[in-house]
Amino acid sequence: MFDGKSVFISGGTGSFGRAFIRTLLNRYQPKRVVVFSRDELKQYEMQQEFNAPCMRYFLGDVRDAERVQQAMRGIDFVVHAAALKQVPAAEYNPSECIRTNVNGAENIINAALANGVEKVVALSTDKASSPINLYGATKLLSDKLFIAANNITGGQQTRFAVVRYGNVVGSRGSVLPFFRKLINDGAVDLPITDERMTRFWITLDEGVEFVMKSFQRMHGGELFVPKIPSARIVDLASALAPELPHRLVGIRPGEKLHEMMISRDDSNHTFEFARHFVIAPSIVFTEQSDYALDGLGERGVPVSESFEYVSDTNTHYLSIDELRQLGQVWS
Ligand SMILES: NC(=O)c1ccc[n+]([C@@H]2O[C@H](COP(=O)([O-])OP(=O)(O)OC[C@H]3O[C@@H](n4cnc5c(N)ncnc54)[C@H](OP(=O)(O)O)[C@@H]3O)[C@@H](O)[C@H]2O)c1
Repeated sequence: MFDGKSVFISGGTGSFGRAFIRTLLNRYQPKRVVVFSRDELKQYEMQQEFNAPCMRYFLGDVRDAERVQQAMRGIDFVVHAAALKQVPAAEYNPSECIRTNVNGAENIINAALANGVEKVVALSTDKASSPINLYGATKLLSDKLFIAANNITGGQQTRFAVVRYGNVVGSRGSVLPFFRKLINDGAVDLPITDERMTRFWITLDEGVEFVMKSFQRMHGGELFVPKIPSARIVDLASALAPELPHRLVGIRPGEKLHEMMISRDDSNHTFEFARHFVIAPSIVFTEQSDYALDGLGERGVPVSESFEYVSDTNTHYLSIDELRQLGQVWS
């Protein structure tokens, strides 16, 4: 799929970007891989590890339309991973988050169209489904922009799709490294926001694999959601430190008790496949695709009208033993 192709990754120095590029270079022989991000130190450090001749490091901001367009010249595939993603920071600095996550998304779309890119996959989050915080709301707007972009291609080949998933195990600022640090620092208890709280979990490698497959599966216009397990936050705390008591601290502003990936309102245009779901566009494109049959020849079936995909009613939960194993990988 990526052999001999030029690939652009916004946010290429982030957790997802690095893992995606590692797999890309291990598995394929791309012609050119463009890393696009702001911080020169992160790029410098990445260059020490990723220095294949195909690698190109572009300093730039997704808010800068001209620079994005320049960096995307001759590109075949785009992965849009750049984002501001800390919930409290987004609440405190809403316009900054809007500039990066919404205006940045628009710039990526326009640059892809101007440069005749073949396919674009943008990363989304479960927080974008029925959002209650600003970060989730900006990612929902970004999702909508990418899906609707399929309507403005003007007969060009460019196609856009979105991948939505939940918490990445061990990602920066997430609960697992937070608990791990407290335990290593000799905490006498672990803070729990709410005993009922559940989250969807995915590993970075699973996320990368799913995004790569989405390039093969997509017609354009899909929002792809992988089937992934849920876990209770109390179970995670018990798995990491069975001897430590829990201290209830209450749910934080902008947090949900349970996360959602597909709302009931999306059910009338959602298809279930063996390992994932596809939310088909609710708007009608000029060029209609059969979203029940994907580019890999996999078939999906419509979900029931009452269907929703929420972390507490998920049929697959991680056990304390499975969480302990995940915790060991991230120790
Ligand atoms: N981590 C999770 O748990 C999770 C879960 C679901 C979805 N996602 C989504 O997955 C994507 C990648 O997340 P991640 O965990 O890899 O994030 P990350 O580690 O924080 O990386 C973010 C990347 O974006 C770049 N970036 C930020 N603002 C930018 C801007 N204005 N212009 C250009 N580059 C910019 C950062 O580099 P510089 O700071 O140097 O610019 C960095 O390379 C995001 O879209 C996120 O919403 C993440």
